[in-house]
Amino acid sequence: MKILIINGPNLNMLGVREPEIYGKDTLESINAYVQEKVKDAGVELAFYQSNCEGEIIDQIHAAHTAFDGIVINPGAYTHYSYAIADALSSIKTPAVEVHLSNIHKREGFRHNSVTAASCIGQVCGFGKYGYVMAIMALLEAEK
Ligand code: DQA
Repeated sequence: MKILIINGPNLNMLGVREPEIYGKDTLESINAYVQEKVKDAGVELAFYQSNCEGEIIDQIHAAHTAFDGIVINPGAYTHYSYAIADALSSIKTPAVEVHLSNIHKREGFRHNSVTAASCIGQVCGFGKYGYVMAIMALLEAEK
């Protein structure tokens, strides 16, 4: 199973960005952690990060034929990007939404996700392990 892991805006700043919320790991080290955790699960991972809504949408469209599943942390786009929601709904490839932090414990504007309904499910609040959980959920959904 080929899975594309998409990280949206400001997630390239992990390690520097509000470590008390997001932890001290960089995105690169999180990706390496995820890769290691699923090494025996029979998945092939590809990693993509962008700060631009249109680029994320292009990657989602391309994943339609190139990948069997998507794990996406849309960052703040989660809360207002109907365009990313529509992109996820426009393809058959199943997606799982991930958030490092528990968005429901935070500011009110983070409580709602406009993208989650275009995914098979959402994982939040488990830090980097959330990406591993999302991959496992995609593997189960495939069965
Ligand atoms: C986030 C939560 C979002 O509210 C925020 O804008 C992010 C990161 C998370 O992983 O916890 O950029 O998606």
